[in-house]
Amino acid sequence: MHNPQLNAHGELTHLLSIDGLPREVLTHILDTASNFLEVSDRDVKKVPLLRGKSVFNLFFENSTRTRTTFEIAAKRLSADVINLDVSRSSTAKGETLLDTIDNLVAMHADMFVVRHAASGAPYLIADHLRRVGRDDVHVVNAGDGRHAHPTQGLLDMYTIRHYKKDFTNLTVAVVGDILHSRVARSDIHALTTLGAAEVRAVAPKTLLPTAVEKMGVRVCLNLAEGIKDCDVIIMLRLQNERMNGTLLPSAGEYSRCYGLTPEILALAKPDAIVMHPGPMNRGVEIDSEVADGPQAVILPQVTFGIAVRMAVMSIVAGN
Ligand code: CP
Repeated sequence: MHNPQLNAHGELTHLLSIDGLPREVLTHILDTASNFLEVSDRDVKKVPLLRGKSVFNLFFENSTRTRTTFEIAAKRLSADVINLDVSRSSTAKGETLLDTIDNLVAMHADMFVVRHAASGAPYLIADHLRRVGRDDVHVVNAGDGRHAHPTQGLLDMYTIRHYKKDFTNLTVAVVGDILHSRVARSDIHALTTLGAAEVRAVAPKTLLPTAVEKMGVRVCLNLAEGIKDCDVIIMLRLQNERMNGTLLPSAGEYSRCYGLTPEILALAKPDAIVMHPGPMNRGVEIDSEVADGPQAVILPQVTFGIAVRMAVMSIVAGN
């Protein structure tokens, strides 16, 4: 089946989802990010790969880490970065998403970085650009609804590879609100593509997607069972803003059953790493003692995100 992210030569021209991308493409992005990591340590933190290009950040949902690290990454590639203030833009007056895109293309946009509450919005934009003959304009998904957050998935893989070197011996637990999590979906697709030995989906039944096993994970309804002997633990935030109705008795009950405490973490391998995409709810899905402890790599994830986003933007732009 045609993958709308790849051109006729199999090259990545948009990044919309990790689902369906071959292992070689993921590895190429991670390897490219390794080369970009040292740019941030230079006196002059810039390379000229996107000089003269205009990158538009379109964030229709809140963000701290993703929006800022995309902006830093684009600037390190020497692009001009335009952050559309969505609350003050004409979308607030009823302009459609695609009319907004057409107007920004008329301003010579070269790349859109898009976060949207609607799953599929970045696909809609990429398909529109193809139909109007603007295959030279690229789209990078910065998180769409519950669907995908591919650059978070890639920076998570970069972090795991940095600390653990090889995926093939790893047991990875993805813990928490998997039902509403685009990060979980992207991480699971990336981990199975990169050959992780075992990926566990650890959550109460009400927070698991239907037929999640088909994604290649082992389901664990019990936290202790899910964490036992793990190499990597990826904690997820309870996404209250995406929950319709009551899926949990209370945050306190959830925390008692699924919160990562030092006692539960002790069941994992002694050198296990703890990850979280942020924002964290301390005291709900993760204890502060764990979040600030020696096994947490939550802030390095953010730092690696800059190099990974530099890699993605330079690759989709054809460098
Ligand atoms: N991980 C993540 O997407 O964080 P932000 O919502 O702050 O961008």
